[in-house]
Amino acid sequence: MATQSDTAQTREMQASFQSVSDNFGGNLDNPLPFYRQRLAEGPVMEGDILEELGVPPIFGNAKGRPVFTLFRHADIGAALRDQDTFTSGLIGEGLGTFMGTFMLTAMDGDYHRRMRSLLQPCFMPAVLKEWRSTLIDPVLRDEYVAPLVPRGKAELIKDMGLGFPVRVIYSILGFPDDDLEGMEVFATMALKILSGPKRDPEEALRARKEALEASQALHDHVKPLVAKRRAEGSVGDDLIGRLLRTEYEGESLSDQQVTDFVRMLLPAAAETTTRTFGNLMTLLLERPELLDRVRNDRKLIGKAIDEAIRFEPVATFKARETSRDVEIAGTHVPKGSIVSMVVQTANRDPEVFENADTFDIDRPNKPNFGFGYGVHMCIGLFVAKAEIEAAVNAIFDMLPNIRLDPDMPPPVIKGVNLRGPDAVHVVWDVP
Ligand code: HEM
Repeated sequence: MATQSDTAQTREMQASFQSVSDNFGGNLDNPLPFYRQRLAEGPVMEGDILEELGVPPIFGNAKGRPVFTLFRHADIGAALRDQDTFTSGLIGEGLGTFMGTFMLTAMDGDYHRRMRSLLQPCFMPAVLKEWRSTLIDPVLRDEYVAPLVPRGKAELIKDMGLGFPVRVIYSILGFPDDDLEGMEVFATMALKILSGPKRDPEEALRARKEALEASQALHDHVKPLVAKRRAEGSVGDDLIGRLLRTEYEGESLSDQQVTDFVRMLLPAAAETTTRTFGNLMTLLLERPELLDRVRNDRKLIGKAIDEAIRFEPVATFKARETSRDVEIAGTHVPKGSIVSMVVQTANRDPEVFENADTFDIDRPNKPNFGFGYGVHMCIGLFVAKAEIEAAVNAIFDMLPNIRLDPDMPPPVIKGVNLRGPDAVHVVWDVP
């Protein structure tokens, strides 16, 4: 199955990707100096910084609840470790309204613990190792990089990054490999769901309708496939097979839960991976010496991914709601407040990271919040890292001397939330 970057479906996917960028990008390309100004006024800001920046919140509407914004690594880490005080249910009011009732990110307490324990074994490194050699590497090499080789130039987001995360998830789930159209419909639906939350009330109504339709279409596509797999004996090492068989403390997942989980997985797994890949390639291509070093020592790709996640996180905000009155860095935060956390400032906190504004793949490994932290930490992080590593390895092996295209504008990592470059133009030597 060769990847095409000019079909009608792919063009729709690109348009939806751009709409997600416009939607969450806000009114500052580089908000970090603005956050730091606010942090200089005090570590806890009363008010919603996302609103000031014109970005729709992932938690929906504040609905009269006070909003507090945190910036420092220590404050955000403490909040994300205390899931009883800082709860996640509010996420179900935003993006969650488009994703059914089984939304892991929006679950709290014992229910989250039980459901996470059911799902976690399906995403462990041993499972990934198997998927990696049978599926992830071949998909990246044969379908995405091989068709580019004779061209000598490409735009890495359009020609690779937009497609491969959905393609890989599609295969991991166990969907048919030869259904390119079905997969692209999947991808476009996932992006439409992400475009659901809007600030402008009129636009919000329209986008909400589209996101709900997309979500329903995804549901209707997945549910019969799940039922069919159950009827066939819930066999197979793909993700749906594993989800149908998983058990924890005597519980297992119903067809509806598996369907809803698959539906929430796509928006969680696709856009984030696309943009992280774009950020990593930008950061390496802007530093040709480092690019060479990583190309010559592939063990460094993993470190480069970790550092890209710290230095330029894609998911730049965490949101929680307080279940009791609490004091944060001397500020009283009443029960029922929304606490919005700025990942960018925490990941560049000089109290924790030496030369925090330098992209340094050799820095000591310390927790950052690019994949989240605490009980809700990204369940798919091994999937994301395996895919991005496979993509970078394939690029290094098959596109010799890859470098930024001198005739095209250089990539710019930008936006408030879901940060990333819109385009990464590259050239290489055609063998
Ligand atoms: C580089 C790509 C990715 C990034 C940056 C990312 C980021 C995140 C973050 C920040 C969270 C925490 C949300 C919170 O605390 O409220 C999260 C949770 C989650 N992610 Fe990812 N993610 C990525 C890829 C993936 C992939 C590939 C999958 C699935 C295969 C996935 C599935 C999930 C799920 C299911 C959760 C919810 C976990 C829970 O609440 O217990 N993500 N992700």
